[in-house]
Amino acid sequence: MINPQAKLSAEEVRQLGREFDSKSALEILRWTLDRYHPQIALASSFGAEDVVVIDLMAKVVEKPRVFTLDTGRLHQETYDVMEWIRERYRIPIEVYFPNSGAVENMVREHGLNLFYHSIEARKMCCGIRKVEPLGRALGSLRGWITGLRREQSVTRGDVAAVEFDADHGGIVKVNPIIRWTRDEVWDHIKSNKIPYNALHDRGYPSIGCAPCTRAVQPGEDERAGRWWWERPDLKECGLHVKAKPAKS
Ligand code: ADX
Ligand code: SF4
Repeated sequence: MINPQAKLSAEEVRQLGREFDSKSALEILRWTLDRYHPQIALASSFGAEDVVVIDLMAKVVEKPRVFTLDTGRLHQETYDVMEWIRERYRIPIEVYFPNSGAVENMVREHGLNLFYHSIEARKMCCGIRKVEPLGRALGSLRGWITGLRREQSVTRGDVAAVEFDADHGGIVKVNPIIRWTRDEVWDHIKSNKIPYNALHDRGYPSIGCAPCTRAVQPGEDERAGRWWWERPDLKECGLHVKAKPAKS
């Protein structure tokens, strides 16, 4: 029996990941919130997957914790859905902004549209607007929850339902809907009448920042509209990239 206050080792988390692969999202969230709430929060961009996870978390605890990284370049439709979710579930949204001095220096030197100039510039922007604030958001948590799904991209095919996050101090990263298909996500949204981002009805299956997201054509990959000018196997912004191999 694992002590609920003890930090899990990388090996224990790997073992849990194997066990959780046959469990439902609600079972995974029950275990997770039972053990970690309120020292765990969902990282939410308020895309279809994240509103599903919020809905599932709200079935387990009264006030699930949800944080978002407001890059300063989001669509108005994303702010709208944040408000609808806040009202529907009566939860505060913990908003993290980028460091203003770092953004000012970056745009002064590289321009406001630097992401189109080179992959390095794009990664710098994601680093300052997303990755650094994520580190701050996770600083006081024992774990985080995401809406990642394996089906989303070639870079996510081997992600486990629970991971040891060595890059953020060895906390747990829980991906409760990792095995879900896109259709399952949308069935859950419709049958539970969950508010969702209006851009999804305009050809945007995956939504990030406004200048780096566009609608996809029928039959195109669901992340084809994200950083569409980059190679699919390199298209991660840094939130879900492992910098070092996991150690106990
Ligand atoms: S991204 O890394 O390419 O931007 P994607 O949009 O597919 O990620 O979302 C995957 C998961 O990352 C989401 O389900 C959510 O948990 C987290 N995430 C992405 N963007 C944000 C954001 N701006 N704020 C908080 N969490 C986010
Ligand atoms: Fe910057 Fe685009 Fe990354 Fe948003 S997605 S942080 S605008 S490079």
